[in-house]
Amino acid sequence: MGRLDGRSVLVTGGGSGLGHALVGRFVEHGARVTVLDRSEPKLTALREAFGTGVRTLTGDVTSFADNKEAADLAVREFGALDTFVGNAGVWDFGRSLLDASPEELGTGFDELFSINVKGYLLGAKAVAPHLISSRGSMIFTLSNAAFFPGGGGPLYVSSKHAGVGLVRQLAYELAPEVRVNAVAPGGMATDLRGPGAMGLADRSVADAIPIRQMVRDNGALRIEVEPDDYVGAYLYLACRDDSATVTGTVVDVSSWGTPKRTGAV
Ligand SMILES: NC(=O)c1ccc[n+]([C@@H]2O[C@H](COP(=O)([O-])OP(=O)(O)OC[C@H]3O[C@@H](n4cnc5c(N)ncnc54)[C@H](O)[C@@H]3O)[C@@H](O)[C@H]2O)c1
Repeated sequence: MGRLDGRSVLVTGGGSGLGHALVGRFVEHGARVTVLDRSEPKLTALREAFGTGVRTLTGDVTSFADNKEAADLAVREFGALDTFVGNAGVWDFGRSLLDASPEELGTGFDELFSINVKGYLLGAKAVAPHLISSRGSMIFTLSNAAFFPGGGGPLYVSSKHAGVGLVRQLAYELAPEVRVNAVAPGGMATDLRGPGAMGLADRSVADAIPIRQMVRDNGALRIEVEPDDYVGAYLYLACRDDSATVTGTVVDVSSWGTPKRTGAV
């Protein structure tokens, strides 16, 4: 895999879980990394861990202004922006159509789609001019739920399916200057939370379900997985020398398929 020496990467949701693993590996591969996350404590820990290799901005991906400020910070600090990783997301803890109240479906949809879909769209809008200049690329975090049912309830699964459409359309619109792809990881024991509107802001997936064991027992490869195990696909997509011909694709690294039906957790 080629190195990313001196490349400037912006990661949303880099404060924990998969985003944190991405920041670590991008830094290891020589990149300079800017992180947009809404959790100030997580960003403080990230600066302590990575020092001058990272810049951080506390903000919300549902705000265009915050996305633009993060993109501008990356360019100001590191001279350009080469890769945008849209990654911040929330989960619905598998709450089903029948289990959710009409109010929860309405407000939960607004909050979850606002982060998982609008956050990616506004991030793309903010970084597009910089990536056109650098002939860079966008990479979005999707999920096994971008292809299959059961990795969440209807809100989460439809939001990740929507991400596939976003990747294809943006790849079409931004060619030939900018490559746009996604990675679809499977389950991970992370701090992934849910919409406050559904009363799910204080739970994390790692606390709610034995996700390591579920992935091991249901996945085709029968292995326990950590966020870092999914990172290689991002490095491949970020490295122009390795993936110059690749755009409009979703790299499915989940080895997971359709999870056994568990219902809400
Ligand atoms: N954990 C899993 O099982 C799993 C499986 C497949 C895909 N994913 C996807 O991986 C991505 C990363 O999730 P994770 O599991 O690492 O969870 P995580 O909660 O550990 O990391 C997500 C980060 O995003 C930040 N964030 C959330 N909403 C934000 C907002 N509105 N503005 C700014 N920052 C915000 C959080 O503070 C957190 O640091 C998500 O897109 C998620 O859907 C997760």
